[in-house]
Amino acid sequence: MPKAELHLHIEGTLEPELAFALAARNGVTLPYATEDELRAAYSFSDLQSFLDLYYALMAVLRTEDDFAELADAYLARARQQGVRHAEIFFDPQAHTARGVPIGTVIGGLSRALEAAPERHGITTRLIMCFLRDESAESALETFEAARPHLDRITAVGLDSAEVGHPPSKFREVYRLAREAGLKCVAHAGEEGPPAYVWEALDILGVDRIDHGVRCLEDEALVARLVADQVPLTVCPLSNVRLRVVDQLADHPLPAMLDAGLLVTVNSDDPAYFGGYVQDNFTALRDALHLDEETQRTLARNSFHASFLDEEVRAAYLKEVDAYRAG
Ligand code: ADE
Ligand code: ZN
Repeated sequence: MPKAELHLHIEGTLEPELAFALAARNGVTLPYATEDELRAAYSFSDLQSFLDLYYALMAVLRTEDDFAELADAYLARARQQGVRHAEIFFDPQAHTARGVPIGTVIGGLSRALEAAPERHGITTRLIMCFLRDESAESALETFEAARPHLDRITAVGLDSAEVGHPPSKFREVYRLAREAGLKCVAHAGEEGPPAYVWEALDILGVDRIDHGVRCLEDEALVARLVADQVPLTVCPLSNVRLRVVDQLADHPLPAMLDAGLLVTVNSDDPAYFGGYVQDNFTALRDALHLDEETQRTLARNSFHASFLDEEVRAAYLKEVDAYRAG
């Protein structure tokens, strides 16, 4: 099924093989002796326990080539999973804090993204995320450092440890982003309460909510999200691995669709959570018995929720309608 992936952290696509290869190339020592030993650490109790490993492994990413290779490896895998369009998050502060200049990060990623239509048959957008457990000042500094590169950035986002870091903390930098003509998204309602989703909508003025599964706890919020058809980029395997839900069979995605929410399915950090985007679709099909028409609805939603130009969006939607399994 042709689809768009809208919630994908490029640093979360760092597979153990590439991590060890980059560590060797850059003279970085990882606190794991083998790939298997590293994989054995992929057992998480919550978002923070994952983030600790996610940030630690980024130590291997140092040069423009490293970032280009990381993105190219994701795009190759994504295409095998039916992805025709990808809107890709990156976390500049996680790199600048280690002394990697923002231009190196954006230069490497955009080199791979610019080659993607021809090399992989995938169109792309780049979304710059602020780390919400860093200060509002740090987000503002990051935005100013990125200004010379804004022609390669479509939107800003907000990620990292959610609880205790409400969207309202980032009011100012989102105002600047909107003034600069960027789209806005934010993680909200993953571990955080429905109030954070309200803030993302009303204070940050976001175009999409990332995750948002906890919206179901607030009837008025669901009504608002349905009325405005605000897209929610849901990540089922991530929700299981980070214990947002107990098991996939309990996932609220069917209830969200029934409520009339504009839901999409995405992989979040596929190297860590046991699967890329088609793996999420397949796991949902098996655990929740989603039929082909529901899968088609999810694929259609992914293009509707994207930041594509209307003409390209319409062409992709035609491909979804024409798709027949087998
Ligand atoms: N950074 C990478 N993945 C994330 C997630 N699922 N939630 C918040 N921050 C993240
Ligand atoms: Zn995420």
